[in-house]
Amino acid sequence: MPAGHMISSVVAMKAILLAGGKGTRLRPLTIHTPKPIVPIFERPFLNYQLDLLKRVPEIDQVILSLNYQPRRIEHIFGDGGESGLSIRYVVEPAPLGTAGAVRYAGEALRESVVVFNGDVLTEIDLASVIALHRERKAKATIVLTPVENPSAYGLVETDEAGNVRRFLEKPKPDEITCDTINAGIYVLEPDTFDRIPADTPWSIERSYFPSLIERGETFVAYVDRGYWIDIGTPAKYTQVHRDIMDGHFRSTRFAGGPIAWVSEDARVDEGAVLEAPCFIDEGTVVKAGARIGPYSVVGRQCHVEEHATVAQSILWANTRICQDALVSQSILGRQCHVGRSATIENGVVLGDKSVVTDFSRL
Ligand code: GDD
Ligand code: MG
Repeated sequence: MPAGHMISSVVAMKAILLAGGKGTRLRPLTIHTPKPIVPIFERPFLNYQLDLLKRVPEIDQVILSLNYQPRRIEHIFGDGGESGLSIRYVVEPAPLGTAGAVRYAGEALRESVVVFNGDVLTEIDLASVIALHRERKAKATIVLTPVENPSAYGLVETDEAGNVRRFLEKPKPDEITCDTINAGIYVLEPDTFDRIPADTPWSIERSYFPSLIERGETFVAYVDRGYWIDIGTPAKYTQVHRDIMDGHFRSTRFAGGPIAWVSEDARVDEGAVLEAPCFIDEGTVVKAGARIGPYSVVGRQCHVEEHATVAQSILWANTRICQDALVSQSILGRQCHVGRSATIENGVVLGDKSVVTDFSRL
């Protein structure tokens, strides 16, 4: 067929990223850094979702649905710039819940829309999810992932043909009937949005999905068994770094460990010990006798002084760990100061600018 006669089958699609939550379970880290931009290694989280969306050529615009500290997020992503995607920001006047936010952000849409919870990391083949949605002429398609304990998620029961039969958000222990949960990734038809009230908070999980089932609409499940995690708690936030260093999530530059990844602009003095896998970002200085243990992530412009130890911990930028201090299994926000011989261990989470005085124990 001559090129001029080819009709493009590529329809432009939009994606809505629900990134308006307060990130309460990640406090105090999220006091000054909303969850969608907490760093995973050196990159704000949403970058990983943009990477995934970029792989689908049909998606030409990403709408970030925000309400908590929207300016900080806009400041980072601008108009999309280097991501190659055009980014639009929709800021709710007040939190509208997950469904209210979709309606508010998707008001003008006529095409199928991809929706993501703004805190899930996966390597899903989004193009196949969209293909299934079209093939089944679905009103909604939801990605499911198996987990050991569904109680913190939305439990989703399906039938043999892959239709969703039941959606139960945060099931109680005796309500757990299967291991598949809502992975927070959907393809939706905008002609269903009119059932979402315009100005009151409304939940996609508790109201919109159950309404599809009640009305007998085509609501299809796509089960993905690849890597999936919700980064929304300190334990999961730590785990995601671990998983990446262990090679379970491969769409990063940190594949092929265990390696000590050290920025070219970091300075690791002779006599400092780095145990792989670990990561040291630009501008950071690690002094003689200091030890960076496995599964540690040290952000930009940090100082780890003589004989200090950082083990299985994540330090954000501009933090100083003074001589002989120990930071183990903890997360420290930006610009913290840990005094000499202080000990911080066992799941401590410090907000930005925390000061731990010399010899303190946390
Ligand atoms: N714009 C906007 N407005 N976004 C919101 C609002 C809102 O009012 N409320 C929540 N969000 C965003 C959050 O920022 C987050 O990215 C996403 O919606 C989901 O909210 P979470 O608070 O993280 O929910 P969850 O983790 O307890 O449960 C959800 O995710 C699970 C998978 O991780 C549910 O969708 C579960 O069904 C699901 O299994
Ligand atoms: Mg979540």
